Amino acid sequence: MTTVTLVPGDGIGPEISESVTRIIDSLGVKIDWDVQTAGADVAEKEGTPLPQRVIDSIKKNKVALKAPVTTPIGKGFRSVNVALRKELDLYANVRPCKNIEGIKTPFDGVNLVVVRENTEDLYAGVERKVSDDCAESIKTITRGASTRIAKYAFEYALNNSRKTVWAVSKANICKLSDGLFLECCREVAKEYPQIEYKEILVDNLCMQLVQNPQKFDVLVLPNLYGDIVSDLTAGLIGGLGVAQGANIGKECAVFEPVHGSAPDIKGQNKANPTALLLCAVNMLKHIGETEKAQILESAVLKVIADGKVLTADLGGSATTDEYTNAIIDCIKLLS
Ligand code: NAI
Repeated sequence: MTTVTLVPGDGIGPEISESVTRIIDSLGVKIDWDVQTAGADVAEKEGTPLPQRVIDSIKKNKVALKAPVTTPIGKGFRSVNVALRKELDLYANVRPCKNIEGIKTPFDGVNLVVVRENTEDLYAGVERKVSDDCAESIKTITRGASTRIAKYAFEYALNNSRKTVWAVSKANICKLSDGLFLECCREVAKEYPQIEYKEILVDNLCMQLVQNPQKFDVLVLPNLYGDIVSDLTAGLIGGLGVAQGANIGKECAVFEPVHGSAPDIKGQNKANPTALLLCAVNMLKHIGETEKAQILESAVLKVIADGKVLTADLGGSATTDEYTNAIIDCIKLLS
């Protein structure tokens, strides 16, 4: 029995978490879920959206499955996600992005991975109000964090039979900060002669991603560009409902979807749990349950490819429960 921290989150988080735990139960994997609430509701009750017990639980279990939590815009508490990544030093945010059969999108053959630096850049949230009419944010890029994420990207490429790592920046404008990021990527690239190394400016990347996304492979980016580009790439394969992600550190791994808490569809039995399910596939691989992970992935991909039971975001009319049941039925057939 493996203990895994489960953060059900806010908005649609609890609904998709319930779907995923039901599906994992049906796989017959013995997981002891250490359920830890966090987010906006918890902030009201416990005075903080990220109580220490959540961090302690992940530090103890070393692995977590996390649904999205709400972050107030322009006011209120700091993002739970940012705090968690910082606290656990989850320095690599890895977001694979591959076409899924059955989901019609403008492009076929998309198969890229966004590797986003997760601990610094404008995400450090160091801001100040200079006057009523002026505010400043500090963008910090360090040699240590840039080298570490570049190494992660090249190791990922090596271990996953990828050919090219693209370093993404705006070094023509942010000459010192993004310039340092590029300098570190270039240094690391020298250690991996078997992997091709290329550079591209983030604006050009965005244009090319919506014209010819097939040409890209592993992308390594500072935090903010990584955040924005990974939503774009999620759109290339069918939207946020199917976009998975993982936050990896030296000690712990937190698997979480790209999407947010989707308050607009909360409690309506409409949410698509696929992104969290694909995160669970990776989580199962991470804890050594490779065979069960493959069954789960096959079941998800088969139900989507069949196209009969799809949630509204994928053009269907199935509820979260109906979709969950279809996957459980498919797992029974595949097991
Ligand atoms: P969002 O991702 O929650 O929603 C954007 C759109 O996509 C909405 O129309 C929503 O209904 C739809 N959508 C998202 N996930 C879906 C799913 N699984 N099934 C079906 N439709 C889905 O982004 P938004 O509205 O910008 O953010 C809402 C809240 O989530 C904010 O407080 C934000 O800070 C937070 N957030 C949390 C994240 C996390 O915990 N990792 C990541 C991104 C945002």
